[in-house]
Amino acid sequence: MSNIYEILPDIYWVGGNDRRIERFENMFPLTNGVAYNSYMIMDEKTALLDTVDSAITAEYMENIAQTLNGRGLDYLVINHMEPDHCANIEEIIRRYPNVNVIGNAKTLQFFNQYYTMDISNSFLEVKEGQEISLGKHTLRFYMAPMVHWPEVMVTYEVSQGILFSADAFGSFGALAGNVFADEVEYDSFYLDENRRYYTNIVGRYGNQVQALFRKLEGIDINMICSLHGHIWRGDMIPYILEKYDKWSKYIPENKGVVLAYASMYGNTENAVNALASKLAKKGVKDMRVYDVSKTHPSYIISDIFKYSNVVFASPTYNLQLYFPMDALIRELSVLNIANRKVSLIGNHTWSSAALKQMTEMINNMKNMEIVGTSIDIKSSLREDREHELDALADDIYKSLQD
Ligand code: FEO
Repeated sequence: MSNIYEILPDIYWVGGNDRRIERFENMFPLTNGVAYNSYMIMDEKTALLDTVDSAITAEYMENIAQTLNGRGLDYLVINHMEPDHCANIEEIIRRYPNVNVIGNAKTLQFFNQYYTMDISNSFLEVKEGQEISLGKHTLRFYMAPMVHWPEVMVTYEVSQGILFSADAFGSFGALAGNVFADEVEYDSFYLDENRRYYTNIVGRYGNQVQALFRKLEGIDINMICSLHGHIWRGDMIPYILEKYDKWSKYIPENKGVVLAYASMYGNTENAVNALASKLAKKGVKDMRVYDVSKTHPSYIISDIFKYSNVVFASPTYNLQLYFPMDALIRELSVLNIANRKVSLIGNHTWSSAALKQMTEMINNMKNMEIVGTSIDIKSSLREDREHELDALADDIYKSLQD
C-alpha cells in the first residue's frame, strides 16, 4: 500500500526507506538503511521533486498514484541526477507522458549518459533564479554545483519558504515514521549518521557548500527538505545550519582526540592504548580509539571531522605505510580535511617508512599542525622509552587547552 505524509497543506513527502541495503554507493556500511525522499506539490499544476532509488520503485509508484488521486503530473523537477534519486525518471515519464521534466543543461547531459529514453521534447531547461508558477506555489531554482555533483540545483518554494535542498542536509538512516527532525531525539540518535553522511559524501566540497550558503543568504527558509533523512523546520534549521557551517569550513565541533591505529601483532595498539590512558589520567574526556583494519574508514573520518586532535599510529609494511592506514589518510586528504592537530607514531622492525610517509601526507594537507615529537617504535615500545609517550601526552594535552 502507499505511504505518504502531508508535510504542509498540499505538499507531500512521497519517498520511502530501504533497510535492506548493505552499503550506500556500495561503499559505506548502513546499519539502519537509508531514506530516499521525494516530494509532491498539489496545486493548479502538480509538481514532483526528484524520484527515488530503484530498490523502492513499486512502493514509490503507489505513493505517486495515491497523491495524484487521478490527476496528471505536470512537472518533474530533477535537482540531482545521481541514480539513487533518478532511477524512476523513465518510469514516471512512461506513466505520466505529459510531464515536463525540469533541470539544467548538465541535468540533461547526465540523463542522456545514464538512460536511453529521449526526453528532449519534454525537457524544460531552467537557469539561475528562474521561477515557475504552479498556481499558489512558485518554484525558484538555484544552481548548487558540486553539492554533491556538478549538475546539482536546489529548488526554493517561494510561498511557504521551503528549500528542496538535494543531498544537502541529508543523512544515512531510514526514517522511523517521523519525517521531521524535531520529532526525534536527533542529537543522541541521528546526528552521528548525519555527520558520517556529510563528511564522507559531500565532505570534499566544503567551499561549494559555503558558496550555496552565500547564495541563499537573506532568503526566508522555513523548511528544508533533503533527499535523504529528516525534514528540517523550526529550531532544527539553525541546529543543522550550524553543524554544516563547521563541517564545510573544516572547523572541529569539539576539542577531543581520535586515536586511529593500525597494528599487526598488537604492539602499535599497545602504545596507543597507553597513550589514551595517559591522556585520560590528565583529564582528557570522550576520546575515540579505532583500529583502522577493523572499523570502516567512514566512521573514523566522521569523528576526525568532529574532533580537534588526531593521533595516527601505524607500522611499516612492505617498506610502505600499512595499507589501511595509507587508505584512511589518503581519503581524508581527498575530503580536504584541514585545521586539525595531528600526532604521529610509527613502528617498524627493520626499516622505517610509516612515520615518514604519514608525516609527508599530513604536511601536504591544509593547516594541519603536528603536535609533539613523533615517536618511531622499534617493534614494541619498551619502558625505557615511556618518557617519549609521556612527553607526547603532555603536548597533546597542552594543545587541547589552546
Ligand atoms: Fe543521494 Fe548524491 O545522491
